[in-house]
Amino acid sequence: MGTPSIRDRTILVTGGAGFIGSHLVEALAPHNEVRVLDDFSSGNREYLPETVDVYEGDVRDPMLLQRAARGVDLIFHQAAVVSVTESVDAPRQSNRTNVDAGLLVLEQARQEDARVVVASSAAIYGHPDELPVSETTATEPASPYGIQKLALDQYARRYEELYDLPTVALRYFNVYGPRQQGPYSGVISAFLEQARADEPITVEGDGEQTRDFVHVADVVRANLAAATTDAVGEAYNVGTGERTSILELAETIQSATGSSSPIVHQEPRPGDVRHSGADVSKARRDLAFEPQVSLESGIRSLVAEGERLPTDAAAIAMDL
Ligand code: NAD
Ligand code: UD1
Repeated sequence: MGTPSIRDRTILVTGGAGFIGSHLVEALAPHNEVRVLDDFSSGNREYLPETVDVYEGDVRDPMLLQRAARGVDLIFHQAAVVSVTESVDAPRQSNRTNVDAGLLVLEQARQEDARVVVASSAAIYGHPDELPVSETTATEPASPYGIQKLALDQYARRYEELYDLPTVALRYFNVYGPRQQGPYSGVISAFLEQARADEPITVEGDGEQTRDFVHVADVVRANLAAATTDAVGEAYNVGTGERTSILELAETIQSATGSSSPIVHQEPRPGDVRHSGADVSKARRDLAFEPQVSLESGIRSLVAEGERLPTDAAAIAMDL
């Protein structure tokens, strides 16, 4: 997919200091006025280019959001409580960030007449009864996080219908890449960390569960396309269409790192989704989305990157 060029816009990225948000900011910053609203609960200021205007605080704060969004053309809404486990432990709290703040963002966008691209999730499908899942597959989320993302996804699409606000919901599958880290980070960064430390690689359950791993550079490209498409008021799967088992992933990481870490099995995660895989034909059709980074090359580049801070996602993808 040729990356659409976005220039001379005023853009707000909520959660722009996080894993996905910061790669998006890096892709936008050279040619646009970019603002980031982030409370740095999991994001990192070091990821942000110096030219970015930072609005530090909570996306649930209407006054802060109003200031950050004043005069913007475009909002990428990434801020969220991203941990499924945290949403199970504290559903009301995560609802306030994942749903209430999403509504605030949409309302603010109406004030500014700004386009909004929201981060939805494959978690909205729950335990799907068909694979791969398309955008018309039944949504039966299995966690408060999934329910909250579904509410956000639907609000975004209904805002286009009801108020003529241009919106797009991107349903990310399992995103991985540089800067993914921390206690609630995804399985790839967890396994890499374990392998590098020569600690056991912890497969939860039998490891036969599958996921569709999509590189953050491809997710950035999908966001850029969503920012310019005419096909608004829609939701799109953002994955690769390839499914990989967790055991296979553990073995790949073991060999890519040359680690002597053994693979050990632990209790399966309660409520874990067994299989997840995207049908991306709708994004291919409307967003000209073509995932470019294979899991193999994505892992290879992560291993090569080591602890070094990466350059921007687009450049990383070019290198692969
Ligand atoms: P992340 O935790 O790295 O990024 C989230 C960012 O939002 C962080 O910078 C954090 O500090 C900020 N934030 C959190 N709560 C906030 C609040 N109340 N006010 C202001 N800022 C706040 O996570 P990520 O993986 O980059 O996720 C980005 C988005 O993509 C999220 O909406 C997440 O639900 C969604 N998503 C991620 C994945 C994945 O595999 N990583 C999959 C599906 C959907
Ligand atoms: C991930 C995202 C979630 C997103 C969803 C969309 C993260 C942290 N979560 O959830 O935000 O909405 O994809 O598809 O990125 N596992 C192990 N060992 C570990 C860690 C995990 O075996 O040390 C297993 C888990 O049990 C699970 C699989 O790996 O079966 C994936 O787990 P995880 O990376 O946490 O992602 P999801 O739960 O799929």
